Order: sequence, then structure tokens, then C-alpha cells
Amino acid sequence: MSKNILVAVAWPYASGSRHLGHIGGAYLPADVFARYHRVIGNNVLMVSGSDAHGTPITVRADEEGVEPIDIVNKYHSEFLDYWEKLSISWDNYTTTMTDNHKEVVHDIFLKLLDNGFIDKQKTLQAFDPIDNKFLPDRYVEGQCPKCEYGEARGDQCDNCSSTLDPEELINPVSKLSGNPAEFKETEHFFLKLSLLGEKLSPWLETKENWRPHVINWAKSFVKDGLKDRAITRDLEWGIDIPVDDLGDEKKIYVWFEAVIGYLSASIEWAKNSGDEDAWKEWWQKEEAESYYFIGKDNVPFHSVIWPAILAGYGQLNMPTNVPANQYILVKGQKASASRGVGKSLADYLSEWEPDAIRYTLASVLPEQSDSELTEEEMVRRNNEELVATWGNLVQRVFTQIQNNKDAITTPSSLEPVDEELLKEAHKAFVEIGKYIEAVELKTALQESMRYVSKVNVYLNETEPWKVIKEDQDRAGRILYTALQAIDACANLLYPFMPTTSRKVTSAIQKDTENFWGLNDIKIGAELIKIGHLFKKFD
Ligand code: MF3
Ligand code: ZN
Repeated sequence: MSKNILVAVAWPYASGSRHLGHIGGAYLPADVFARYHRVIGNNVLMVSGSDAHGTPITVRADEEGVEPIDIVNKYHSEFLDYWEKLSISWDNYTTTMTDNHKEVVHDIFLKLLDNGFIDKQKTLQAFDPIDNKFLPDRYVEGQCPKCEYGEARGDQCDNCSSTLDPEELINPVSKLSGNPAEFKETEHFFLKLSLLGEKLSPWLETKENWRPHVINWAKSFVKDGLKDRAITRDLEWGIDIPVDDLGDEKKIYVWFEAVIGYLSASIEWAKNSGDEDAWKEWWQKEEAESYYFIGKDNVPFHSVIWPAILAGYGQLNMPTNVPANQYILVKGQKASASRGVGKSLADYLSEWEPDAIRYTLASVLPEQSDSELTEEEMVRRNNEELVATWGNLVQRVFTQIQNNKDAITTPSSLEPVDEELLKEAHKAFVEIGKYIEAVELKTALQESMRYVSKVNVYLNETEPWKVIKEDQDRAGRILYTALQAIDACANLLYPFMPTTSRKVTSAIQKDTENFWGLNDIKIGAELIKIGHLFKKFD
């Protein structure tokens, strides 16, 4: 029976170029997971979009002296180009600027207001006395009250991941003028997390299989007692509030609306597909599952605040899992955007095969802790693992079959060593499938490569290039068994390296068509020439 799986991926701020670390942090793991679920026959809906609002965009626009919309358009189209080149297989990649998104945000806002989970509260907001305007949370900096880190922002401390309110900061200053920030009274809409929190504790108790760093963080956040949070801001750039009690100077806070994008993008996808209720299969069916692929800085909003919004709205599925990643630090690269040194993602995309980028990143996915990747390490993995191990295996077997086509038309029957190799393939599909379902993708990739190595060992032991001189039928069986195993390797690697894997599987003529399993090879059929799968770097 096929399952409905929502693959929800963090919405990148359209405020700057992405780097390799971002790709490995969320988009690549999501794509691996989605591709696997599609090949085993599940109904996947993979959505995200460019996050168009918020201070990252307005700060950038101010810096460049252009309008926010210009920044969004520029980076949105840059992102679309990455997805295409890296084969990130969205079902819908949109933006938070659509009318559809605004309608869905308004619907959720009004329903929460109706249900008593949003109210108006007077609050103190940071104010810049020089510019004479209210300061967005991110424009306020100071010392974190929880961990004493000196450069915490008004919305969050990047050192201890606590979500913060600006007035909690010790010695708050305006990022614009550097002056001490003042606090002035203003009125805003608040999400009543104080009421919603009690719905979350029992729900979080059921999440035993979540990554420790995610579930521990979420539980302690809720246990500390959730405070109501302002969900409107004094801003010009953002989504209007659907009631006019507070005048039109205020907008909906970016974080409240961006997470709603998962739902609005699903609804938009359904409208485009011609069946406007189709999204409900992923959001309202009880058996449907939803996975949120995000970086660790987004844990608070996905493990607690978005679930609270969903719980307050009702009738929508809560996250099944939030497999947040830690960071991949790609050495030399962080500096690239600001200082013009190191390599940008665009540089990598022009020099590297996309599948080789996907492979090297997937090998170091930071699923439990931060990981580091250097370009030397990428080159080494490319040369040793992709070119010498996997690419060379395909090349060797393809060449021998092509050179001995006439000789190997009547392969003899399987011997134990052949059966063993195929049995291992069956096992690999089951085990690696389980790893991917548990979002242990790095292990899944390691195990797939372990099977590739086994096929190499098999060839070295059976030596078909020698056997062919004495026993062509036996050599035929060895080569067909190896080809069957290669087809299996390509299926195992497909979620990670879709382009090269499909090149291999579609070059092999078969009597069956399994995309997650072994196939029967057509004896004597032509192999389509595929050339080298990967290129070697010096
Ligand atoms: N744009 C934000 C970030 O990059 C939030 C992404 S996730 C969302 O941190 F669901 F809230 F959009
Ligand atoms: Zn802190």
C-alpha cells in the first residue's frame, strides 16, 4: 500500500547566494529522501519556496540601495538555477509573495483569532531614537540572557539557539546606529503560546525516534513554559494583517507566515494540478506522513512554533519528523560571499558534475554533529570513490561484455559465489531502505558504496577476463551477474546520484523493471555506450 509523504523543506531567504553547506544542510537530504520514496511507490509531495519577507531581505535592499522586490527576484531566479543544475526534484517551488500564500496565511490568522489563540497585547518594542523608527528584532543586538553570548540578536541567539525577545537582551543596541536601543510601547497581535503549549507536551512525548538534538531541544523549550509571541511587526515589507484594528503600518511577522508556506505551497500545487483538493491527501489524511528538512537554526520554529500553529488551527497533520541537520562547514567557502575569496556554489557547479557534488556532500551529512568538508576531501572522494571504485566498475564490466558479445550468449547456471552476491543485493535494498526511511542518509550512502565494493571484490575473485579463455559460458554468467549487481548498485545510488545512476540503468536492457530491487538482465542484448560517468580531478 502506498503512503502519502510530505517532504517539506526550509524556505531559503531570497537575500543572498547559497553555498555548498546550505545544499547539504537541507535541500540535498530532502531530495534523496523524496526520490527514494518515489521509487518505492509512495506519493511524495515535495514543497518549498523562496522566503521573500523579513529583515534579511530589507537589510540587503538597504545596503544595495534597491527595493526589496529586486533582491527577491534576483535571488529567487538564482535559486531556481541551482535546483535545476543539482536535480532537486520539487513538486512545487514557489515564493511567499503569491496571492495564494497571502490567502492561506489570512485564513490561518483569522481562524486562530477566532479560536482565541491570537490576541492583541501592548508591548515594548525596540526603538531607534536617531532614525525615529521601530527596530525589527534582528536590528537589535546584545548579550544573550541564557548563555551570555555577546552578539545575540533580538530574535535568536546563534550560540545557544534560544529564541529571544529583544527586551530580554542585556545591553541592547541598534545595529543601525550602534546607539543603545530604547523601548517604546506599541500594540501587536500575539500568538498565545501560553495556551498552545499544553497541546505540545503529550505530542512531543510520542517522538522517541527524533534526532536527540531536536527532541531534547523541543522538550526543554516547552517545559520551560512558552510565552506568547508577537506575530506582527512595524514594517512596510510583508503580508498585511487581515483585520485593520492596528492600522496599516504593521505587517505579519515573517516567521509566522513563512512556515505556513508548507501548506500554501501544497495548496498551490493542488490548484496547478487541476484537482484543488489534492493537497488534503498529505495534510488531512491521518496516515499521511510529513518530514521537515531544515538546518539546526530553524529547530525552534519547526519543532514547537509551527506545531503550535497547526494544533491551534486543527484538522491539519502535525510533523511526523523534523530531521534537522547540524552544519557542514565547507572550508574556505564561508568567506566567499563577503570577501570574494573561496568558491561560490556557482563555481562548484561550473567545475563539478552535479552528481559528484551531491555525493561528496552526502558523504559528510551533519546528521548528528557539525562536519567539515574541504575541497581536497571532495577531490579525493571524487577520484577514489566515484571514478576509481564505482565508475571504473561500470566501465570494466561494460567493456568486457561489449568485447565478448558473441562469446557469452549461453551463460552457464549460477554458482554459489554468484548467488551470494545477489543475495547481498537483496539484503542491501532492505537495509538501505530502512536507513533512508529513518533519515540516516549518510549511513545509507556508506552501505550502498559497501555493496559497490563487494561487486569489485567479486570480479577480482571470479576473474572473468581469465575464465573467458577456457570457459565462455561461465565467463558469461560471471559478467551477467556482475551486470545485474551493477544495475542494483545504480538503483541503490539513485536517490543520491540520480543522473549518473539513470544513465547506467537505462543502458542495461532487462526483462524486469524494478527501481528499488534486482532486475533480470536480457542475455545477449546490446549495452548502450555511456562513456565515463565521472571526471577525475588532478
Ligand atoms: N527563511 C528562513 C531561514 O532561512 C526560514 C526558513 S523555514 C520556513 O532561516 F519554513 F520558515 F520558511
Ligand atoms: Zn545564548
